[in-house]
Amino acid sequence: MSSTSIDSLLHENRRFAPEPAFTAQANATPELYDEANADRLKFWARQASELLNWHTPFTQTLDWSNPPFARWFHDGRINVAYNCLDRHVEAGNGDRVALYFEGEPGDTRTITYAELTAEVKKAANMLASLGVTQGDRVVLYMPMIPEAIVAMLAIARLGAIHSVVFGGFAAESLKARIDDAGAKLVITADGGYRKGRVFNLKNAVDAALASGAESVENVVVVRRGENEVDWSDGRDLWWHELMADAEAEHEAQGFEAENPLFILYTSGTTGKPKGILHTSGGYLTQAAFTHKNVFDLKPESDVYWCTADVGWITGHSYVVYGPLANGATQVIYEGTPDSPHPGRWWEIIEKYGVSLFYTAPTAIRSFMKIGREVPNQYNLATLRVLGSVGEPINPEAWMWYRQVIGGGRTPIVDTWWQTETGAMMISALPGITTAKPGSAQVPLPGISVDVLDEQGVHVGKEAGGLLVITEPWPSMLRGIWGDEQRFVDTYWSAFEGKYFAGDGAHLDEDGDVWLLGRVDDVMNVSGHRLSTMEIESALVSHDIVAEAAVVGASDETTGQAVVAFVILKQRHVDSLTPEEASDQLRAHVAQQIGAIARPRQIFVVAELPKTRSGKIMRRLLRDIAEGREIGDTTTLTDTNVVASISASFR
Ligand code: PRX
Repeated sequence: MSSTSIDSLLHENRRFAPEPAFTAQANATPELYDEANADRLKFWARQASELLNWHTPFTQTLDWSNPPFARWFHDGRINVAYNCLDRHVEAGNGDRVALYFEGEPGDTRTITYAELTAEVKKAANMLASLGVTQGDRVVLYMPMIPEAIVAMLAIARLGAIHSVVFGGFAAESLKARIDDAGAKLVITADGGYRKGRVFNLKNAVDAALASGAESVENVVVVRRGENEVDWSDGRDLWWHELMADAEAEHEAQGFEAENPLFILYTSGTTGKPKGILHTSGGYLTQAAFTHKNVFDLKPESDVYWCTADVGWITGHSYVVYGPLANGATQVIYEGTPDSPHPGRWWEIIEKYGVSLFYTAPTAIRSFMKIGREVPNQYNLATLRVLGSVGEPINPEAWMWYRQVIGGGRTPIVDTWWQTETGAMMISALPGITTAKPGSAQVPLPGISVDVLDEQGVHVGKEAGGLLVITEPWPSMLRGIWGDEQRFVDTYWSAFEGKYFAGDGAHLDEDGDVWLLGRVDDVMNVSGHRLSTMEIESALVSHDIVAEAAVVGASDETTGQAVVAFVILKQRHVDSLTPEEASDQLRAHVAQQIGAIARPRQIFVVAELPKTRSGKIMRRLLRDIAEGREIGDTTTLTDTNVVASISASFR
């Protein structure tokens, strides 16, 4: 984030007190904070017991005898899928709608809790018949269709581990994740719809398996796009054929609370994505607690919609596990916000009477650009809570969201959290907190955070520093798959005994938290995490590149954008124009990692600015990419470098 936008954030004085009528009916009460402050572990134990059903109740809340490896509720036994499905049916709510599916072409499906439970039971039997059992890894590479949710829950039901790979990632990225997880099975679809066209997913799976991924025994393919696919007999199986033969009955068995639930890969500061590992009981407790209180969910009457794809953590915790554990009725939508017309999202809200809505600032900013005339054509009066996630929301976008989408009435909850935290950590509670546009504000009950300077000293009010989490929390990551040491080094080494989040933060005069973006080499593009190193590796893997540096430059719509600077190998300098080189390299990055990582701009340069010790000066590159005056260059080895870069920039 640029220094001017930080400045405007910190001088934001508007305040929005809760409406008394909202407070009177709110799930959350101020006593939640008191209860958690008095005894944090007792508070979480109560949430775990009251919100979830345990096959065997736990007797110990937290085992922190071997930090940073936490065990929550570890002697309890639980089945995550049973909590999301069967128990709602057994409680007499089988006819309640679980999912309103809206496909991009306009096809729809309404699935009740009874129907979803029946599907998941069959899918669990089907997976078991393919040999999937507790602890096995299954990779999902799917569009946003009900079968993605059915598959996740069926895997969870068996005590196996899913690893969902976002459908926008390329074959190379998919292969790396399958290999790292050692997956035995891949579930995919022929294709899915995006911007009015079918994109082929099965091809990418074939390509990934052609060049490795030897652990995979079978590929199960859901028919969605009805596009042509290649078929490998014996390996590939149609989902619908297997489901037609699957047994209907399946009894859910209780697994240890610490049984792994999923691995989700995310970008870190090195080139290799990290497999973030989450387990069952603690994760589900915090997902359910936050979903219920931060959205003020009334499962009997609310219609909830989170626009995230299940390929991201938000889709795991706030499309699948939190809402379904709470018995919510929700919308899932396959496509893009502007397909086939720019009002598609608002049309969906009107159609289903959505009352709780959760999306990302980047989407809000792109709607702001189009103008309020589009949402104004739809009846959005059912909305009563609006949520934001993924990156800092600037006060202007916050105000627009509240006024234009929320009709000036709805509370906004700006929720800070990460793939690693598993569930929300810092957020206002609707009906309780007086809102400040642009600030995530306060840690949730039972969560302890702090802002420290580089020496580890609390910064005090009206000061900035690094965000840390000071106490273990139920949905915390339990590790990085296959790399314990990286887990300890990445998160627990900067400050003794504290979790280092990688975000900068500021505390205001009330002690409220304002998030200021990443402080490491992780970029946030449209709410998606990307690593500068990963993109640099992709660039230098291309034959024409000698050296590359990538920075995240501020971007009005996407928050940050990927900007790359490359030095070409001598023999290509004269044979390619900078435009040709840039086009080839942008396509190469999309093909290596996925379209989300494609650089906005690539500058072909003669040299890169480096310090005397040889480190690339990214701050300077960011200045250039954002069109600012060049800052202090006294540590540069050769000050002419800057001049030559800026010249090629123009
Ligand atoms: O920088 C923070 C930003 O997103 C990062 C986590 O990204 P990811 O693991 O992909 O999870 C995104 C969805 C939870 C954080 O380190 N971030 C997320 N939410 C916010 C945010 N920054 C500011 N305000 C938020 N509400």
